Amino acid sequence: MQPEPTLEELRGLVADFQPGRGHVMPALHRVQDRYGYISRAAIEVVARQLNTTPALVYGTVSFYDDFRTHPRPETEIAWCSGPACRLRGGDRIREAIQQTLELPLGGESEDHRYGLHVGQCNGTCSEAPQVWVNGEVVGNLSVSAAIRLAREVKGE
Ligand code: FES
Repeated sequence: MQPEPTLEELRGLVADFQPGRGHVMPALHRVQDRYGYISRAAIEVVARQLNTTPALVYGTVSFYDDFRTHPRPETEIAWCSGPACRLRGGDRIREAIQQTLELPLGGESEDHRYGLHVGQCNGTCSEAPQVWVNGEVVGNLSVSAAIRLAREVKGE
């Protein structure tokens, strides 16, 4: 797991953003692109840099599903919530994965080895229904294939 960024690193990363609410999203995206998540310390640093409140920055982080406040698990399954995947049985795929991993959507195992999150359609609908495992498409899933995949991720 990547070590937590220092305050100095965080300050340097967002130093060129000018105060103003219009820069909250770009600053947060930059932090997440670099570190994979937005820590509490990063929220404080972004708020200070943009001359706004940590509450406002935290509100933005928690409003958008794309932002995360914890490091990624070792293996992350993102379930596609898009219409083509759902039309082709995506909800049954999600249920099968959730039951096998024993996780809610948005949940992670206690040891941070794996997690399940909602993903958005990225245009690869020809492989629906699908999930992404650490960003790689696993498509044309059946319920049994989804269970096999989840067991593999779980180490069963
Ligand atoms: S709807 Fe799932 S990839 Fe497009």
